Amino acid sequence: MGKIAPSILSADIKKLGEDIQMLDQSEADWIHIDIMDGHFVSDITFGSNVVAAAKKITDLPLDVHLMVEEPEKIITKFIEAGATGITVHAETTKHLHRVMQDIKKQGAYPGVVINPGTPVSFIEPVLPIVDLVLVMTVNPGAGGQKFISEMVQKIEQLANYRREHDLDFLIQVDGGINNETIQICHEAGADVFVAGSNIFGAASPEDQIQTLKKLVN
Ligand code: DX5
Ligand code: ZN
Repeated sequence: MGKIAPSILSADIKKLGEDIQMLDQSEADWIHIDIMDGHFVSDITFGSNVVAAAKKITDLPLDVHLMVEEPEKIITKFIEAGATGITVHAETTKHLHRVMQDIKKQGAYPGVVINPGTPVSFIEPVLPIVDLVLVMTVNPGAGGQKFISEMVQKIEQLANYRREHDLDFLIQVDGGINNETIQICHEAGADVFVAGSNIFGAASPEDQIQTLKKLVN
């Protein structure tokens, strides 16, 4: 069962509450919330207050993607705000293993994410303790970029590793997901599909979520 996680980065900020309500009524499985700090990536997006507000509108899992330096300083705030899972870039902390442990200890699902330039081998030591691995299929920092097809082999590598080591983390992809790339990632072994501009740029975001979901189920 492939899961669809619309990214509210591409939602209409003037009516963010309505867009979250729409997702809540749609076939979306999770809501993906992109947190950017202006350091690890150049833009700045949402704080934990947005997670807390979303929590009041929907019971869907809130999938928080932290694109921030020193994530250890803010994980507690986001978990208290209602994050279901917290995904941390391997490139942003000197203490990746400890951060994963701390997220779990505080009651959320720990996820690890790698940039297009970071190899899977870099995160191998934490794979036994994470619930999710996110493979960036664009460089982080903005919606609407083109899918980097060389990343597909990372998905295959992770799917093989998971099978060989009898692990059960989910494999998520983020960036440039559309009707075509979602199928490529699904065939390679991905389970959770983040999509922003493809969903919110559609004439009917709800119908587009349904279309994407059908392609991976
Ligand atoms: C990019 C973000 C993505 C973004 C994806 O840094 O992590 O979640 O919203 O946008 P699309 O689907 O438009 O590539
Ligand atoms: Zn994201």
